[in-house]
Amino acid sequence: MERLDKILSSQGICSRKEARKLAADKKIKVNGVIVRKSDIKIDPDNDIIEVGAKRIQYKKYIYIIMNKPEGVLSASNDKHAATVIDLLPEEYQRPGLFPAGRLDRDTTGLLIITDDGDFAHRMLSPKSHVPKEYEALLDEPVTDEDIRILENGVTLRDGTVYRPARIVEIKDCCVRIEITEGKFHEVKNLFAYVGRTVEKLERIRIGGLKSDKNLGRGECRLLSDFEISTVFSSDND
Ligand code: URA
Repeated sequence: MERLDKILSSQGICSRKEARKLAADKKIKVNGVIVRKSDIKIDPDNDIIEVGAKRIQYKKYIYIIMNKPEGVLSASNDKHAATVIDLLPEEYQRPGLFPAGRLDRDTTGLLIITDDGDFAHRMLSPKSHVPKEYEALLDEPVTDEDIRILENGVTLRDGTVYRPARIVEIKDCCVRIEITEGKFHEVKNLFAYVGRTVEKLERIRIGGLKSDKNLGRGECRLLSDFEISTVFSSDND
């Protein structure tokens, strides 16, 4: 059993404060009966909730797409710095949220925030081979030899092994690169290996899910079921 206002806010329907007003305005029904209070406890798996004319399809987990801005930590909480969770609007806030896969503090772009551990594990597991594409702005263009090296896989002096990357597109110093692992600083380290410095880094795709150009930096929205499934599809056209 869970509080009605908590359920509505967890589903991205409205904030708890708005839920109280909606209930007072007789806009919420549970099992066909108008409820006047938003703090009542109900069973979200079995009770039928309607807000206005809309029936709420309760989903256990939440999946949020964010356009991560620079300067924010990909972490659930931090004593000193702002995290991506701090940027979420109140209606998406709930315990257990975390970024599925970390981006460096200065890296921008596509980030999925969820409370579904299995989903994140599947997405991040090297066994799943979910490709992640980044757009890197380099200090100098890469050469054909650099591309060959990166596409063959790289072993750093400290023994770190990076699987072969794929260079998707090159426009002067702007290179689109696809990796399937997502190890710490992987893209920066790969380019450093061929003597380049990454000046800007943005993630633009995870599996078949592309970043949403309508989201400004720091903005987010819920993903649809279809979009969630595209994370595991190899279609990247
Ligand atoms: N590779 C990096 O070097 N940094 C990121 O944030 C992501 C991938």
